[in-house]
Amino acid sequence: GGVVCLESYHISGGNTLEGEYRLQGAKNAVLPILAATIISGRTSRIEKCPHLSDIRTMVSILREMGCNVSWDGSEILVDSSPVNSYRIPQKLMKEIRSSVFLMGPTLARCGQVILSDPGGCAIGKRPIDIHLTALRLLGVEIKEKDGLLECKARRLKGTTIPLSFPSVGATENVMMAAVMAEGETRILNPAKEPEIIDLQNYLVSCGAQISGAGSDEIRITGGSPLRETEYKPIPDRIEAGTLLAAAAVTRGKILLKEAVPGHMDSILNWLGEAGCKVQRGGDFIYLEAPDRLGAVRPIETQPYPGFPTDMQSQLMAAMCLAKGTTEITESIFENRFKHVSELNKMGADIQVIERTAIVKGVERLAGKRVTAADLRGGAALVIAGLAAEGNTIVENIGQIDRGYDRLEDILKSLGGQIERVSHTD
Ligand code: EPZ
Repeated sequence: GGVVCLESYHISGGNTLEGEYRLQGAKNAVLPILAATIISGRTSRIEKCPHLSDIRTMVSILREMGCNVSWDGSEILVDSSPVNSYRIPQKLMKEIRSSVFLMGPTLARCGQVILSDPGGCAIGKRPIDIHLTALRLLGVEIKEKDGLLECKARRLKGTTIPLSFPSVGATENVMMAAVMAEGETRILNPAKEPEIIDLQNYLVSCGAQISGAGSDEIRITGGSPLRETEYKPIPDRIEAGTLLAAAAVTRGKILLKEAVPGHMDSILNWLGEAGCKVQRGGDFIYLEAPDRLGAVRPIETQPYPGFPTDMQSQLMAAMCLAKGTTEITESIFENRFKHVSELNKMGADIQVIERTAIVKGVERLAGKRVTAADLRGGAALVIAGLAAEGNTIVENIGQIDRGYDRLEDILKSLGGQIERVSHTD
């Protein structure tokens, strides 16, 4: 096969992170909004799009479906009038699991969609049963054939849709399909993440009648004609939390600009309890770390507004060096502790019992060669490397590029010693 270019981060630990950073648009807001641009058949200009591989993949999927997409700086312009396919490209589906929420917009636009079963990924089997149950209630016929899902809806009919679990992706799929369903759709027990509210606000900016995102019930009245729009998504609360955790564990000081502190209560409460001084304003967060973090009360990942699963591994990395023991329970995904073995290689003292990791703080971590198994686990290893003594090599950083736009540049600008090294095998 072709030359395989493997990339790794080489980190020299011990530096304090200090400085300021302007947050980028949220990956998990931009992805569903890009999918939603299919519905209108018009032009959408989305601002503040970070250059992440997941977003590049989504752009490729839109192009393969016939959209004209141009990416100028951090703005993505999508003209979805020429959409001529309702088949989601198989190879791209494998790359990002989140492409499953292309079902809703494609059904809304074309009345049918064919996609390969997105399958699980590193953090769990991640079925889509909640998506399929909800779409069937809207009148979608779904057939599974040779690993493909063939979905048809002669017409989408609004109805009440209770979700058995507040799945982010399923909530987004239903919102987007319901925009073109006849009559009213009510989603009960929806996900309440800020990214859900952002998707609603994008759809409203196109002329859709939708309200209630962030509450216990989302209402959509289908059938409004949709127009062209431009939209600026919310800042990335997980990028923000990752950088705060890195500053916290390296005795640092950091000012985050274009932030929405209100999206981050559970993360900021944790950092405060761990001994950081946290100031927050309308659009900024300022953190000053203590000399050494303190352990915190047991933490459990929950749907929003609970502590986000996407911050679990970054929190764990910071708590490895804290004074005392912290218990972390992962309740959202069934297999999201792959970073534990790697952190223990560096000298951490973490024991996993079922879904709980017991992190006994140690005095120091030692730089080692470790491997990123998934996006946020990889970010956790970078954080540990920044705080460890000596050199750490993080392999397989393509996983990290899925969710961070050149993380090494961001950390270097804050005083971190980190280099991206490419080698061909
Ligand atoms: C979104 O994934 C995010 N991705 C994930 O971020 C995030 O971790 C997750 O929400 C939870 O907050 C995007 O927004 C692109 P879910 P999603 O449906 O929609 C189970 C990152 O790092 N489930 O809320 O896939 C599922 O297996 C990514 O940026 C079913 O059982 O999450 C999981 O255990 C990682 N059946 C739980 O629910 C279903 O039909 C949460 O999944 C759907 C989900």
